Amino acid sequence: MSEWRRIGFLSDLHTGSLCAPWPDEYEMAAGNVICASPAQRILRQYLDDFLSHEMREAEMIFLLGDMCQGENRKETGRGTTTPELDAQVGAAAMLIDKIVDSRPIRGVTGSGYHQAMSMSLDKALLQKIGGNDLEKLRHVRIAGPGCVIQVAHGVGGGAIYDGTVTDRESIMLDVAEARQKIPYHVDLIVRGHLHHFFYMEDCSRAFLRLPCWQTWYGWDGLIGTYGKKQPDLGGVCVDCGPKGRIVLHKRLYPAIQIHDGLMGV
Ligand SMILES: [Fe+2]
Repeated sequence: MSEWRRIGFLSDLHTGSLCAPWPDEYEMAAGNVICASPAQRILRQYLDDFLSHEMREAEMIFLLGDMCQGENRKETGRGTTTPELDAQVGAAAMLIDKIVDSRPIRGVTGSGYHQAMSMSLDKALLQKIGGNDLEKLRHVRIAGPGCVIQVAHGVGGGAIYDGTVTDRESIMLDVAEARQKIPYHVDLIVRGHLHHFFYMEDCSRAFLRLPCWQTWYGWDGLIGTYGKKQPDLGGVCVDCGPKGRIVLHKRLYPAIQIHDGLMGV
């Protein structure tokens, strides 16, 4: 086995949001077909591009949660391509069809708001594509290089500056390791959730915050920090090597404005 192994990450696909990728045509159980909007078509092309390049070489894949949008229950379904959850899971599976082969796919569950009341849509997607559910947070030792990765979807914590949250999480992990609460060293922390790409390495470990696949959407909580909350669209793979060495391969795509575009009057 090679001392270097490539691992692919996908996070925050949000299939079912009007601001996220959707298959060009998706046939519902009742026989009607839901087509992608022009913006959704571009987002789907971005996703296909990433899956056909960096991700093609990945030996194993992790889904970091919020792969479906869910019901948008506070908005009573507004903002969804369809609030039908089976269709969202089916469409997400169709979108990532290219990477569903013999490679292992594992995933964590994302934010509660993007699950159904009675079940996790992230789990339902993993079940549908034959992946393994890692629940909320898991440590994974990569055979070969032996590096340990901690994967979780992550929480917000009012983060304006990504470095503040990542540095804090990393230092707290150092403390837990020093207290022998965790009997191994974590080389890489991976998170999704904030829809921003961010990467940091210090003397202890690396921290990767994944980009997303959903454009900016009109939600009150995103208005006060509009400039900061412009999402990074794309995906990341990492090559893990001996002694915790990490080489990053990221692919980011131009923003698409749906609800916040410039209009002439
Ligand atoms: Fe998200």
